[in-house]
Amino acid sequence: QNVVKIGVAGLGTVGAGTVKLLSEHRDNLADRSGTPMIVTAVSARDRTRDRGFSTDGLAWYEDARDMAQDANVDVIVETIGGSDGIAYDLCKAALEAGKHVVTANKALIALHGVELARIADANNVTIAYEAAVAGGIPVIKALREGLSGNVVSRVTGILNGTCNYILTTMREQGRDFADVLAEAQKLGYAEADPSFDVDGIDAAHKLAILTSLAFGVEVDFDAIAVEGIRSVSALDIQMAEELGYRIKLLGIAKQTAEGIEQRVSPVLVDRTTQISKVEGVFNAVALEGDYVGPVILQGRGAGERPTASAVVADLVDIAAGRKTPVFGVAADRLKKNVRAPLEKH
Ligand code: HSE
Repeated sequence: QNVVKIGVAGLGTVGAGTVKLLSEHRDNLADRSGTPMIVTAVSARDRTRDRGFSTDGLAWYEDARDMAQDANVDVIVETIGGSDGIAYDLCKAALEAGKHVVTANKALIALHGVELARIADANNVTIAYEAAVAGGIPVIKALREGLSGNVVSRVTGILNGTCNYILTTMREQGRDFADVLAEAQKLGYAEADPSFDVDGIDAAHKLAILTSLAFGVEVDFDAIAVEGIRSVSALDIQMAEELGYRIKLLGIAKQTAEGIEQRVSPVLVDRTTQISKVEGVFNAVALEGDYVGPVILQGRGAGERPTASAVVADLVDIAAGRKTPVFGVAADRLKKNVRAPLEKH
């Protein structure tokens, strides 16, 4: 095969960014993967909207699910979102039809990742999701490939750009929560339903995925204790500042003697630490491995270009024929995710 044909389902921030990156860096990407990639099909609700690129000559699907049967598509990029419905149906049908899937959909992977990984394994294809966690930061690859020699004991992350942006802006400008949320929505960082951001659910989706990769266990979203940032006031932030702390929404997963503890909540972080200095839409993930020691990755966790960067990295892997198990080990070798009783704090 001398070209990889891509169908992009969903032309919002991430889908449109991916099409633009593929076109802008086409030659460079072909050098990296050894096989040129072209977009052959797209799907979105509104055909007339100006997205900054032409869709002339591309197959256009009103219902993205039909793309799974398109013989002129080898890889589906799913950026529709939502854990169920069209996104789930499309990804499942595409894998069953022997097509690879690249998705930015953390809810889908957090809730159905293991099932989809099994389907992918059975059909000798893959479902890749670098863009689903921490936007442009290559944290999936870091855990799955870069740190595979380690036993990981702990993962800590600022995993939601919208919340970090809100907390940062509230602190810097002394503004209200609601006012700043509206701004994050305008910038294209927030989820379609922003309660997923501010109630910690989006961060929990991402933490569930990182936990699986870090500890070689099945994804277990329900095991996470989740609290968001709605109740954090400008005064709380100011008081914390005076005492030498920043308030951050952290996702934490750690291995304990009794199992894995997973939580998402606002935490007071000492202002001298590196993670406290990660501000605005930036995300960070701190990892602790037994051989490597501490590792911190940080970068933009949301937005068109960083997320497209992650989607395209997965596409390059697929075009180059590189294939790693979806969660680092084959789906049927993932261990049970034993929940540790949550410590009080
Ligand atoms: N709403 C998400 C965030 C987008 O703010 O981090 C990236 O997953």
